[in-house]
Formats: sequence, structure tokens, C-alpha cells
Amino acid sequence: MNGRTRFLNAARREYVDTRPVWMMRQAGRFLPEYRAIREKTSFLELCANPELACEVTMQPIRRFDVDAAIIFSDILVPIAKMGQTLTFGKGHGPRLAPPIRSWDDFRMLRRIDPYEETREVHETVQRVRDAVGTEKAVIGFAGAPFTLLAYMVDGEGSRNFAETKRLLFSEPDLAHEILSLIADVIVDYLGMQIDAGADAVQLFDSWAGLLSPDDFDTFAGAYAASIMERLADRGTARIYFPKSIGAYLERAKAVPCEVVGVDWAQDLSKARELFAPDRALQGNLDPTALLGTREQLDTRIDTLLAATKGYAGHIVNLGHGIIPSTDPETALHFVRRVHELGAGCCDADEG
Ligand code: CP3
Repeated sequence: MNGRTRFLNAARREYVDTRPVWMMRQAGRFLPEYRAIREKTSFLELCANPELACEVTMQPIRRFDVDAAIIFSDILVPIAKMGQTLTFGKGHGPRLAPPIRSWDDFRMLRRIDPYEETREVHETVQRVRDAVGTEKAVIGFAGAPFTLLAYMVDGEGSRNFAETKRLLFSEPDLAHEILSLIADVIVDYLGMQIDAGADAVQLFDSWAGLLSPDDFDTFAGAYAASIMERLADRGTARIYFPKSIGAYLERAKAVPCEVVGVDWAQDLSKARELFAPDRALQGNLDPTALLGTREQLDTRIDTLLAATKGYAGHIVNLGHGIIPSTDPETALHFVRRVHELGAGCCDADEG
């Protein structure tokens, strides 16, 4: 069974020969071949160059033989086209300026045509589709509206995104207007990636865990659901990854999708109880487990596989992005061990 079939069957909870596996941030600084390209090219130049972005997307495929290729780009790429300026300085994460905090700020935002304004992403997806053929799944992605709102309003990563929370709780009408606009843009943006050849789309809700349970429903879940509903008839595997909402993970049931991404702070067996048999699960090895001994890593991988024994719908992944100081050899060991021991995920395999 090839990687694409394995990945897509697991997303549909159908028979797989062994569990599919890929790693969030599998293209990136932990790979020397990525760092070599980054010496000559800035991160944003890399995202805007389809030939290089495709090359970087393919690096972990060649090295690890993972089952899926995730397009190399960033969740802030389409957002920056709406009217703010995006920068990635040395030693800090992304910055969006000016921050959006008032109705006047909101009025300068535009609904973009992703075929025009992010045509480099369209071309990168086409190139990656050509490069992997039907051997590997191609994953497109976007940020979920709440997570993107948090960057747009605070202007940069933050511990508690106080400006974003202030907006939600003092000008909820404005917050809902911005969230609706972002959701419309993301539907078009993911639709464009599907047209270009993506088999699956992942919606990253990295900051969903900042919200209390009811606020999650109102400001995060509702907009993620609206996007997923509008993509339902595309026949694509839809993955929703709400990070750090373990205390109210069941609220993610309101978001229609094939696959729920589970971060490492959550018990995968409990996630299975909540979501099986309606959803496949993706996750959730602690990425820092790749920094420790092989022995503890092997034990953790075995525990992970045991949590979904007999359940076809498990796409193995890390519970968040791989850490830049990870040894690529350890990542290779992780992927190989999952493929070697990952059979037995379907009841049919047992007898
Ligand atoms: O391999 C892949 O997973 C695909 C590429 C990808 C990147 N960013 C590349 C990247 C994906 C899917 C993302 C998503 C993304 N970007 C998220 C959601 C996932 C998550 O981590 O919760 C978020 C919040 C961002 C915003 C972002 N981009 C931050 C906060 C940073 C800086 C953090 C850091 O590690 O320095 C980035 C930069 C970024 N995006 C890098 C990569 C490979 C590092 C760029 C570099 O210095 O070379």
C-alpha cells in the first residue's frame, strides 16, 4: 500500500496495512539541507518561491519516507495579503503591522483572490503534486480564523494575547466581522489548494487553548466549522487541529471534519473514546520525546500505537511541531518504527 492510500484510508477510517505517519514542521531548521537553503534565502522569500518551496517540501519525503507531504509555507502568508505587512526578524517570530484593533483598521482589510495574490502557493502545490505523483498524500493548510485573528490583533506572538482578548470582550461585533472575513478568505484559499492538487487540508488552531470553553465555541469552533462545512463537498480529507483544548476537547465535535489533531498534552485513548468511530485521530507524540533516549522513545511509540489498537483511523504524528534541535536520525527512527509496528490498527488484522 503506498503512502497516499495509507493516509487517505486512515482519514476515512478504512483498512490500512500499517499506520500512516508524518511530522508537523517536518520541513524546517532541524534538517541541514533546509538550513543550507536558508543561508541564502530568507524565510518569506522561500515561501514565495515555488521551486524552492517544493524542494524544501520534498526534503523530509526523501529522507524519512513519510506518507504525506505538507506544503511549505506559513499560516500568515494569505493574511499578509489582506492589508498588513508581515516580517520575520532574526530571533523573533512573525510580526504583522499595523495591528488591527478598530473599525478603521478593519476597513483597510481586503478579501483577496487567492489565485492572484497567493499564486505562488498555487504553483507550489502543483509542483509538489507532480513531484510525489500518487505515491504520497499532499496536505495543504491554513490557520483557523481565531488563531489568525490573534496574530492580526496582537501583531505578534504573545503569552496571553491580551489585545485579542480585549477586542473579543469589548468589541465582540468587530471581532465577529473580522473572523467572518478571515473565514471567507480561508475557504477560498483552501479551495485553491484543493484545485491545485491537495488531497487533504489541515486547519491549524494553535491558539484555541487561550479561550474558555464557551468562548471557544463562539470565537473559534464556530468559524472553523463554517470553513469545514463549506469544504465538505470537495471530497478532501479535512483535518482540524485545535491546540491545547484538552479540558474541553469534546467541543471540537461541533467542527465537521474527517480527522481531529490531538496535541501531546492529551490522552489519546480518551480522544479515541470521544471521537471514534466518527473521526480519525492524528497525533500525538510529545515532540521533545525525540530529544531523549531511544529507549524511552520506543516505549512512548509503543504506548501511542497501543492507544489506537484495533482502530483504523489513526494518522501518527507529533503533538506539535518538531523541535529545531532534533537529530534527524531520531526522526527517521520514529517514522521507521511506526511503519514497522503500526499494523494491527484494524480489527480485521487481528484474526
Ligand atoms: O513542515 C511543515 O509543517 C509546513 C510548514 C509550516 C510552517 N509553519 C513553516 C515554518 C506550517 C504548517 C506552519 C504553520 C504555522 N506557522 C503555525 C501553526 C502551527 C503551530 O506551530 O502551531 C503558526 C502558529 C505559524 C506562525 C509561525 N511561523 C511562527 C510562530 C514561526 C516562528 C517560530 C519559530 O520556530 O521560529 C514561524 C516560522 C516558520 N514557519 C518556520 C518554518 C519552517 C521557521 C522559519 C525559519 O526560521 O527557517
